[in-house]
Amino acid sequence: MIHAENIHKRFGAVAVLKGVSLQMRKGEVIAVIGPSGSGKSTFLRCLNHLETIDQGRIDIEGETMVTTSAEGACHYVPDAEVRRICRKMGMVFQQFNLFPHLTVLQNIIEAPITVKGMRREAIIPKAEELLRKVGLLEKRDSYPSRLSGGQKQRVAIARALAMEPDIMLFDEPTSALDPELTGEVLRTMRQLADEHMTMLVVTHEMAFAREVASRVVFMDHGEIIEARPAAEFFATPEHPRTRAFLENVL
Ligand SMILES: Nc1ncnc2c1ncn2[C@@H]1O[C@H](COP(=O)(O)OP(=O)(O)O)[C@@H](O)[C@H]1O
Ligand SMILES: [Mg+2]
Repeated sequence: MIHAENIHKRFGAVAVLKGVSLQMRKGEVIAVIGPSGSGKSTFLRCLNHLETIDQGRIDIEGETMVTTSAEGACHYVPDAEVRRICRKMGMVFQQFNLFPHLTVLQNIIEAPITVKGMRREAIIPKAEELLRKVGLLEKRDSYPSRLSGGQKQRVAIARALAMEPDIMLFDEPTSALDPELTGEVLRTMRQLADEHMTMLVVTHEMAFAREVASRVVFMDHGEIIEARPAAEFFATPEHPRTRAFLENVL
């Protein structure tokens, strides 16, 4: 589903990604963990073209989005193609990013109508079904300001799902939440995983990584240090940097 090869990204003089490679199969749930500033968000943002890469290759479901020539020149496919490829991925951010002036339902149907050209009559029942799924149908006509953080994040998940992505990218979806609200969001994500959604999840929730992820990727200083099946990863972390990180967070 995702083939990322030797991704390099710098911001000015700072190399933030130094040759990150990741292969992801259909139905896999991968947890990305690592210290703050290690490049986790930047990597996710490069995958769905919220950032451009400086070097490397990205294929999404077998379609090439960007390649690099032998001379080192990075080449993206035309914009319309990039947008079409990126629509295969839905993204959920730490800060929800709901539109404050739109109701919950309007937040969910906005992109399917404006981006995908779906008819209101077709998308509204689907949006309601998604709201039922995340347990928020009764908030259909509420504005985001009336919701708790956990409810906002569940709306954000429903909104991403309304675009019918094949892959979901989550960037620390519970980090902005009060501790008692993380559970409801993690349950929604676990339910998605049970339905075999392909998910790449940057998270500090080690229990979630251990129980839900098939693989865990540890990033540090712009590199993947260790990437292994979740049970193995936690039982016998190999790299000293992984061990030091786990000792701090567990
Ligand atoms: N738009 C940007 N401009 C300049 N530096 C950035 C930008 N985005 C991220 N960085 C820097 O890149 C590094 C990695 O950031 P990030 O990918 O957000 O790490 P993480 O998500 O692992 O905490 C940090 O040093 C951060 O300050
Ligand atoms: Mg981040």
